[in-house]
Amino acid sequence: GIMREVMGIDIMERQLQELLQVDEVIIVSGNCDETPWVKKELGKACANRMKLEWNSKNIIAVTGGSTMAEVANSLSPDEASKKLIFVPARGGIGEAVQNQANTIVEKMAQKAHASYRVLYVPDQLSGEVYASFQKEPAIKEVISQIKSADMIIHGIGDAMAMAERRNSPPEMLKKLLDGNAVGEAFGYYYDENGQVVHKVLTVGIQLDDLSPEKRVITVAGGKTKAKAIRSYMKGAPSSTVLITDEAAALELIQGN
Ligand code: BG6
Repeated sequence: GIMREVMGIDIMERQLQELLQVDEVIIVSGNCDETPWVKKELGKACANRMKLEWNSKNIIAVTGGSTMAEVANSLSPDEASKKLIFVPARGGIGEAVQNQANTIVEKMAQKAHASYRVLYVPDQLSGEVYASFQKEPAIKEVISQIKSADMIIHGIGDAMAMAERRNSPPEMLKKLLDGNAVGEAFGYYYDENGQVVHKVLTVGIQLDDLSPEKRVITVAGGKTKAKAIRSYMKGAPSSTVLITDEAAALELIQGN
């Protein structure tokens, strides 16, 4: 539209797409750190983008977070959405109920007149529990649906902010600080070079599952998330569509 051209948003989208080497970038105006409705705009933009191709999709895996919760708020049904199944991307990683993936997929399914599955697996499993959980038939079924998801929608967090939100133990906080972790996505913590500093052990999507055949939509905005977005994007699949806001985009472009 004309407004987007006047504001140079189209140009920024192309610059950022080049810079991060992703398939597509969509930028909404504002800074969601300062203005809460900007997060709603991110949610709307994601809902619209999802609709463009959910005709050809079956299973959509979704992470938790306040940004994903806004995506859920913006969904609406159409002919193609009824056959969709929404699944949480990973086992519940310590979030307030309204920001948990299980809650969000239920809401998405309700809004899109689709189906959903939940995955009630506790936060941060120990090695043995992790192994036995994966053998549990009910969990196995959901895991196999998660693995065959053809669209993945997720948020990104600032590493230390996420670690604190998850009430991580002091030794883990130390590991993240020592490793200079800046970004977090899917329970993986990354440093500025995109190297994994720490990984939360849980069932569901692992980094290797983010193959280029799957459409991945990343939704994260706010100036404070620029570093986190850059770190995660170093290893993101080429099929990624990044939906962000102007403040994060400017910071990413200027501080490259
Ligand atoms: C969490 C996800 O639920 O939300 C994280 O497990 C993600 O992977 C985070 O980084 C993003 O949260 P928000 O509230 O900033 O959208």
